[in-house]
Amino acid sequence: MNHLRYFLSAALAVALTFASAAPAQDEKPPDPADIAEGMRLFEQKGNCQACHGWSGDGRKTDNQMPDGPNLRDSKLNRAGLIMAIKCGRLNSQMPAFDKFAYSDGRCYGKKTADLKTYATRMPDAPATFQPREIELLADFLMAKVVRQGPMNHAKCVEFWGPGGGDCNEFPK
Ligand code: HEC
Repeated sequence: MNHLRYFLSAALAVALTFASAAPAQDEKPPDPADIAEGMRLFEQKGNCQACHGWSGDGRKTDNQMPDGPNLRDSKLNRAGLIMAIKCGRLNSQMPAFDKFAYSDGRCYGKKTADLKTYATRMPDAPATFQPREIELLADFLMAKVVRQGPMNHAKCVEFWGPGGGDCNEFPK
């Protein structure tokens, strides 16, 4: 019986991976205007930079805030980024940005009452996002942050400019 159960859960995992990995938007590269919009959501509305740093490298911009990991080293794919942003991370200080994340079981099958059982309580998100905004954030992260190498002067000037951080902190 046990191996049958194992087989079924493995098959389900494969099915879920395929179901979440192939939305149509993945096929065409995102528009530069969408990437820029994603950056604004990261730096402003989402205040992701407070914990993750303006370039996502983990050098948080607000030292009162929890330490967010370096997203430039993240192994997540686009679907994984979307999941982390929507649902946050249980038992950690990564907040959930989907307004209904814990009202109907859509995130990890949990509801608000279940969150109390974790030693580390997820903080409230500074804002909630529409699904479209989470897509823009994921496009921005995939294009400019995740696995894009460390920030340097050239990359900073090319994209981040005054909206991000101070490019002069990187040698030319
Ligand atoms: C209050 C601090 C805080 C804020 C604000 C915050 N994060 Fe996080 N984030 C964290 C922490 C802490 C973790 C590590 C969670 C864990 O232990 O798994 C994390 C994890 C993540 C991960 C998973 C990284 C990986 O490789 O597993 C992603 C993606 C992420 N954050 C994106 C964002 C985005 C995008 C925003 C803004 C919309 C944001 N975070 C806002 C603290 C924060």
